[in-house]
Amino acid sequence: MNQPDGQHCSADLVSQMKHSLRLRSGVVALFLVAVGTILCCRTAVRRADLAGRPLQLLDEAETAAAAASSSPPPLNASLMRLASVDPGDELLRRELEQLVEGSFTGRDPLYRSFASWRRFHHHSEHEELHPERRMQSKSVLRDIPGRLLRSPRDYRVFPELRRVARDWLRRGRFHPDVMSQLVDLVKRPLDLHNAALRSGEDPSSSTAGAGRYGSCAVVGNSGILLNSEHGHLIDGHDLVIRLNNARTRGFERNVGSRTSLAFINSNILHLCARRETCFCHPYGEHVPIIMYICQAAHFLDFTVCNASHKAPLLVTDPRFDRLCARIVKYYSLKRFAEGTGKPPEEWDNAHDAKMFHYSSGMQAVVAALGICDRVSVFGFGKSPEAKHHYHTNQKAELSLHDYDAEYAFYRDLAERPQVIPVLMESGFRVPPVVMYQ
Ligand SMILES: *[C@@H]1O[C@H](CO)[C@@H](O)[C@H](O)[C@H]1NC(C)=O
Ligand SMILES: *[C@@H]1O[C@H](CO)[C@@H](O)[C@H](O)[C@H]1NC(C)=O
Repeated sequence: MNQPDGQHCSADLVSQMKHSLRLRSGVVALFLVAVGTILCCRTAVRRADLAGRPLQLLDEAETAAAAASSSPPPLNASLMRLASVDPGDELLRRELEQLVEGSFTGRDPLYRSFASWRRFHHHSEHEELHPERRMQSKSVLRDIPGRLLRSPRDYRVFPELRRVARDWLRRGRFHPDVMSQLVDLVKRPLDLHNAALRSGEDPSSSTAGAGRYGSCAVVGNSGILLNSEHGHLIDGHDLVIRLNNARTRGFERNVGSRTSLAFINSNILHLCARRETCFCHPYGEHVPIIMYICQAAHFLDFTVCNASHKAPLLVTDPRFDRLCARIVKYYSLKRFAEGTGKPPEEWDNAHDAKMFHYSSGMQAVVAALGICDRVSVFGFGKSPEAKHHYHTNQKAELSLHDYDAEYAFYRDLAERPQVIPVLMESGFRVPPVVMYQ
C-alpha cells in the first residue's frame, strides 16, 4: 500500500541520500514534509488480538508499574521483543563512535559530509575574494580528513561536535522514563528563551519549565488542511508545533500563522544549511527547533547551525528516539502480522529494517504528550481528493515510514491510551488527544 511520503530518515547516510536524490530532484527533496493518512479502519487494533501476556516484559522494573495500574491490558510479548530490535540505531551509534574517535576515512559518508561543508563555506568565501579560484575548491574533496580538520574554521567546530556526539552517546538507549522528563528537556529551554525575549529579565529567575502548556496543536502538512478553515482554532493553542518545512503564508485561513516550535528531522536542517536562502533557519532564526538526528554527520549541521540560531535548537534525547522507534515498530509488526497472516519475524523482509523510521509527525505528537495538558492534532491524514501536502505539488511516494501503523497508534492515543505499549509500561499518563480531520 502506497503511503504518502514523509521525510526520509535513515542511518545509512550514503545510500539514503543517493536513493532519495535518485527518486526525486534535490529541489523536491527540500520539500519533504510529514503527512499522514486518515484513520484507517483496516488498521484498527482489535482488543482480541492483544491476547498474549507480556512474559519478558513483566520482569524488572516494569512489574511494579504494571501492578500499580488497575487493569494492565495484555501486551504481545513476542511482538515487543521484535520491536525492541533497532538496526538503524546500531548503525547510527557506530557512526557516532567513529566521529567521536575521529577514525573515519575518506571513504566514509561522514568524511564526505565534512568535505561538503568545507566546500560550501570555502566556495562562497573564495568566490567573493577570488572568483578565479572557484575551480580549486573542488580539490578539497580529495583532501584527507586530518588535513581537512586542521583548517582553523573546521578546527573550531570539531571539538564541539565531538562533545555533543559523546554526550548523545552517553545518554544511553531505551528509558521510557524520558517521557516524564520532557518538560525539563523541551519546555524549559523554550520558556527561558521566551522569558528573555519578553523582558530581557534574567531568565534563571523566571518560572521556566514549571508545569506544562495548557494546550498544544501539532500541525501536519497534509492537503486535507485545505478548506478546513482550522486556522483560527490552531492559532488559539498555547503552543503551535509545525513539521519540517511547512509554509503558512497564503494558507493562514486553513493552517494558522503562528509557529512556536518547529519539529524537523536532521535531513531538513542539513539541506537547509546549504541553501543560501534558508541557511540553518527553516522558519527564521527566532523560531525554536527540535530535530531528531538521522545520521551521525548531521551533528555537524547541528553544531554549525546552533551557533547562529537565535532561538533554542535542540536535538531530541536519544532515549526519546528509541521510545518512539519502539512504539512505531510494535504497531508496524502488529499490522504486518494481522494483515498478511505471516509470522511477525518476516516483517524484516517487507520493510528495510535499517531504513525503517518513525515520521517527524509521530515524534512531534509524542513530544506534545509530554509537555501539554491537551493535544490537538491537525493535518495528519489523506483522502483521495486531497493534495499530498497543502503547500507543495509533491506526489505521494513510497516511504520508509509505516503511516498506517502510526495511525493505529494515534487512534489508540485518542481512544484507549491505556493499551499503548511502552507508554503503558512507563506509567506515563497520556493527556487527552483530539485528532482533527
Ligand atoms: C503475538 O502476535 C503474533 C502476531 O499477531 C501472533 O501470531 C501471536 O500468536 C501473538 N502471541 C500471543 C501470545 O498472543
Ligand atoms: C547551542 O547554542 C547555545 C547558544 O549559543 C548554547 O548555549 C548551547 O550550549 C549550544 N548547544 C550545544 C549542545 O552546543
